[in-house]
Amino acid sequence: MQRIKTLSEYFKKYELSEKDPESFWSEIADSFTWKKKWDKVLDWDFEKANTKWFQNAKLNITENIFERNLKERGSKTAIIWEPNDPSEPSIHLTYQELYEETCKFSNALRSKGIKKGDRVIIYMPMVPEAAIAMLACARVGAVHSVVFAGFSSTSLADRINDCQAKMVLTSDGNFRGNKTIPVKSVVDEALEKSSTIESVIVLERTKQTINMFEGRDHWWHDCIKEESNVCEAEVLDSEDMLFILYTSGSTGKPKGVVHSSAGYMVYSAYTFLNVFQYDENDIYWCTADVGWITGHSYIVYGPLLCGATTVMFEGIPTFPNVSRFWDIVDKYKINQFYTAPTAIRALQAHGLDPIKNNSLESLKVIGSVGEPINEEAWHWYHDNIGKGNCPLVDTWWQTETGGIMISALAGITPNKPAHASLPLPGIHPVIVDADGNELIGNNVQGNLCIKFPWPSILRTTYGDHQRCINTYFSNYKGMYFTGDGVKRDHDGYLRILGRVDDVINVSGHRMGTAEVENAINEHEEVIESAVVGYPHNIKGEGIYAYVIVNSESSDDIIKAEIIDVVRKVIGPIAKPDKVQIVSGLPKTRSGKIMRRILRKIASNDYGNLGDTSTLLNPNVVEEIIKGAN
Ligand code: WT7
Repeated sequence: MQRIKTLSEYFKKYELSEKDPESFWSEIADSFTWKKKWDKVLDWDFEKANTKWFQNAKLNITENIFERNLKERGSKTAIIWEPNDPSEPSIHLTYQELYEETCKFSNALRSKGIKKGDRVIIYMPMVPEAAIAMLACARVGAVHSVVFAGFSSTSLADRINDCQAKMVLTSDGNFRGNKTIPVKSVVDEALEKSSTIESVIVLERTKQTINMFEGRDHWWHDCIKEESNVCEAEVLDSEDMLFILYTSGSTGKPKGVVHSSAGYMVYSAYTFLNVFQYDENDIYWCTADVGWITGHSYIVYGPLLCGATTVMFEGIPTFPNVSRFWDIVDKYKINQFYTAPTAIRALQAHGLDPIKNNSLESLKVIGSVGEPINEEAWHWYHDNIGKGNCPLVDTWWQTETGGIMISALAGITPNKPAHASLPLPGIHPVIVDADGNELIGNNVQGNLCIKFPWPSILRTTYGDHQRCINTYFSNYKGMYFTGDGVKRDHDGYLRILGRVDDVINVSGHRMGTAEVENAINEHEEVIESAVVGYPHNIKGEGIYAYVIVNSESSDDIIKAEIIDVVRKVIGPIAKPDKVQIVSGLPKTRSGKIMRRILRKIASNDYGNLGDTSTLLNPNVVEEIIKGAN
């Protein structure tokens, strides 16, 4: 695959992608291995949320990772694994070794009855076997759905039930900093609430005592013992599902975002190579978890398709101390480092002491993803980690887009602090006002839409195509709506302003306000609740919950119980940072909660609450302001 090397080449490719998208993308797709080439590059109809790329082509993404790379890169390191505890040995897997492990596990999946199209849940720690699990599913044509191992048993059960999964892949426990998390017992609890799972494969990681259910649960090492290290790849259609990944929206339960085989393959590889400007012998590290889309596209698929060396880190940035990230950068001489603003801000708060013994001189490119990066964090990252001479790529994208959409190309696009900057070739963003009019020219601000399909656009939301149409393609006719606000500055550079819907971005993780409210409302003494986001120094946004209760308990006790209920129902990442007990919520005469007012109060912005005279209960606003924390 050709890599863009200059700014003028970028503009040329961009122009071509506008004028003739089909030849632009087919030229890129040509560098992959196909069992059969496509008859037609693109068919699309945004009104019906239908997009098809590389029609009737046949392929398997793992043949593009392995068979396509093995001859030249068989002995090259594919995955470097850094354990949670730095005194435990790391693991280096070559492409040949990763291939053989993937084949063995693919055979194990087939032996347990997994066939093309079956859904397999992966609920695992950040160990090489998590990547092997994903690749093995892809090899046999099963659809993986990775669930972040911090989610509760209820969240896990919801996902299993929504996609009617047949199998769960998990571990006995997970190491996380100085804690050991009992993952297998969470799976056991989830399986009490679901009936489709036939078998569970358990990786031994922590060696803690767990229950193994006869006939249902099997040890990973037993499953692969007798299996061959060769496994024929299932031939998939370009539009066959590759994976489902659940993500939160402004209403209801999380949706299963569906990605397809060919388009996702082409786009994740193309964007990895171009955004990070990966060179053959570079060592690349993305700190995300495979439970999120970043881990799918930029730890596993993108890098491995490009024959890169990708680092997987099991632990957290603060264990055994806050130098951990920088120690890993030096240990493996990382060239490209990709992390989230929340991690940068958290480490920034510890000052420069934790980096004073690190050289960091191997770094060539540093990246940011998941939420808007504020200027202060941008400069700190750029000056102290990038030492002022690494291009910083601020990459805007979403679970639904499958890959990076708006970003500088490292070292090619001029850097501008806090700006995602320019769209990648093939991406045609538009800014619209509330009525859907396109805002042309520079110095405009509005909602971010995309008006033309790209290969890794989501294909549907699992089991409910109408929901996909309603969520993404109905707000603005003929366009994909991102849910984000954006500004195009005087130079034509794009700056993402954050969500404009009822989604909050907590430490780069998406949370629906309705989802958190539903969890809070499970507490017996809660009558009603309203959740909003507010600016938070480290997390980007914090979760603020206003709750009406009918309880004899003290406010402190009830608040602690409310936080605990959210932890149990969703998981620790959704715990409210602040809970305020209130006697009423500001509502319109038609009974709608005025979140705008609640957001302002949560942000300590009382000066301009707007017109409150139309409220059903204006006096409640005074009371809420008095009690705000
Ligand atoms: C939402 C998508 C993309 C992988 C991780 C998050 C926000 C993401 C940026 C960025 C400003 C960003 C948006 C987007 N977001 N990257 N560089 N600058 N905002 O994936 O969980 O699907 O969340 O994250 O609000 O809509 P996700």
